Amino acid sequence: MAENSRLVLSQRPRRLRRTAGLRAMVEETVLRPADFIAPLFVVEGRAAPEEIASMPGVFRLNVADLVKECRALWKLGVPAVALFPKLDPKLKDDTGTQALDEDTLVLRAVRAVKKALPDLTVITDVALDPYTTHGHDGVLTAARDDVENDRTVDILGRMAVLQAKAGVDLVAPSDMMDGRVGAIRQALDAAGFTGTGILAYSVKYNSAYYGPFRDAVGSAQAAGTRLLSKATYQMNPANRREALVEARLDEAEGADILMVKPAGLYLDIIREVREATRKPVAAYQISGEYAQIHAAARLGWLNLERCRNESLLAIKRAGADLILTYFAKEMARELR
Ligand code: PBG
Repeated sequence: MAENSRLVLSQRPRRLRRTAGLRAMVEETVLRPADFIAPLFVVEGRAAPEEIASMPGVFRLNVADLVKECRALWKLGVPAVALFPKLDPKLKDDTGTQALDEDTLVLRAVRAVKKALPDLTVITDVALDPYTTHGHDGVLTAARDDVENDRTVDILGRMAVLQAKAGVDLVAPSDMMDGRVGAIRQALDAAGFTGTGILAYSVKYNSAYYGPFRDAVGSAQAAGTRLLSKATYQMNPANRREALVEARLDEAEGADILMVKPAGLYLDIIREVREATRKPVAAYQISGEYAQIHAAARLGWLNLERCRNESLLAIKRAGADLILTYFAKEMARELR
């Protein structure tokens, strides 16, 4: 009977899936430790690492522990870290003054990491949200109903110069103000930092999935204040063409690497940007993407490792050359 039920097919794609060896031979996308950038949170003082409730396995680290973590990542083959400060609320104010303090937490952290690991690529965010009491990425207008673009851009340029002076390899404007990449490039060059690169958050959406990160750095809406909406500067999740407007502007203004954020829900955008530029493309698998996988795994509804691997593979397959992910360390450990 089997004889009679055999189809006559010229193509049988399953032939190449028959054995593990064949499957490996035709595998199109492969993750490697050098694909990853590890976002790390740094705090003041000597406190023990403090786990972020909505981000299992992610800790706020004091500077000494941060250096240790960077060394561990470097040994595992992760080539880069992105540092985010969680500031003492007492240091925050309406205009984010602390961001321009030469001795602010993140700059001390950069100096310590660079001293211990000169070849590790160190990246810092250029945006005011960890420094402002209201949690916005810039300074507010007189009416306090929006972020003032040009005044903010001026501050960001100065912030980038301080970061370059502290030794960062790439500054990463994550604020979405107009013209900030060009202004930062000019400010860096004028200060002699022609070799400091710009990893631009070019296409950053106004996502609901940033929640756990805002808990981590304490930039969430303060109790009793009006809703923190970043809709006037971060992009509308409904828009695809606009992503190319933003990406092209940043490239023209001098960005060295273009980033899409979030990653997993925006694979079409990663692909669009990948096809529109010859620069490297990065994608940020953000806090909410990480939290979702962990939450479902905790409930026993999804397999953590398999979902983690598949989510990252999909981001690379979509066209990302580099992935910022809170899974960086465990991925590097597994891929070795
Ligand atoms: C803000 C910034 C955000 C993230 C990185 N930089 C959040 C925001 O725009 O409020 C989010 C990262 C994450 O969710 O993992 N400049």
